[in-house]
Amino acid sequence: MSAAISVAGRRVECAGDQSILEALLRAGVWMPNSCNQGTCGTCKLQVVRGEVDHTESPLETLTADERAGGLALACQARPLGETEVALRGSEMGRTTHVLRDLTATVVGVEDIARDTRRILLGLEEPLAFSAGQYVELLVPGTSERRPYSLANTAEEDKVLELHVRRVPGGVASDWLFGPVAAGDRVEVRGPLGDFHVPDPEKDEGEPMVLIGGGTGLAPLIGIARTALERHPKRLVALYHGVRHEADLYDVDRLEELTIRYRGFSFVTVLSRESAPGHRHGYAPDAFVEDVASARGWSGWLCGPPAMVEAGVKAFKRRRMAPRLIHREKFTAADGPA
Ligand code: FES
Repeated sequence: MSAAISVAGRRVECAGDQSILEALLRAGVWMPNSCNQGTCGTCKLQVVRGEVDHTESPLETLTADERAGGLALACQARPLGETEVALRGSEMGRTTHVLRDLTATVVGVEDIARDTRRILLGLEEPLAFSAGQYVELLVPGTSERRPYSLANTAEEDKVLELHVRRVPGGVASDWLFGPVAAGDRVEVRGPLGDFHVPDPEKDEGEPMVLIGGGTGLAPLIGIARTALERHPKRLVALYHGVRHEADLYDVDRLEELTIRYRGFSFVTVLSRESAPGHRHGYAPDAFVEDVASARGWSGWLCGPPAMVEAGVKAFKRRRMAPRLIHREKFTAADGPA
């Protein structure tokens, strides 16, 4: 059974097995989204008319009072018939990259750090996305999907680059650190998420600081390269925080950027050991030590929740405007089926 959703003057058909979010994104209609799993609350919206089935919406993210007040999580809710939804914020309903399902071929598997791999996926047709967004992989032989950020710029739309950290017992890790091989076929869904470089017409070339924890570096690589290509003289400071030196990767690749762009700096920070050439401690603290004022800068954080929260505090301490702080929390990206 299908239903229809009205939003900001647009009308979108929604198939019976689709969430409101999926139906809108497949139609190229933007709305805020991040985890696509009912945990972050980014996609909360108001049901103005009609009814929805909240399906698996967790009570921690959508309380009983919020449901009674007509709120819903778009990534979980299914419309029951003709439904109208609304959201605070003027951009709801604008055009965005269309959410698509594609079949990809594994074209590269590379060990880049301890328990960390780079996976390259070749596409037969290009995927339109903004640097920083993520895709979901359907783990072969299962019905499980796992999210992975893209390390690409938008122009690199035929070979997707993912950085994958091994999660012991994780269903995707069992494949990606096990039998995966060049030539394997995998289903990809994307693009998803609002953690991405601003559209070109809104990018004013302001200074940027990006802090990534572990494989949270991946989307920051795409964002930093895009930002520098648009404004080669802009100031971009990238901090990569890991526990041990053995967890670092792509150091040479990022150091090359420091040669090509004079405004680009790259700092590696180790939290569990000291080693020559790297800072010791936590990446947000290193930023606070280095930068006296980040007023007018934009900030980009991707990694474990504790690192992201520490980064938000560090940015505010250095007077960055909250509206310029962008964050992507990596929660348990891989777990048992
Ligand atoms: S709760 Fe829907 S995108 Fe996170």
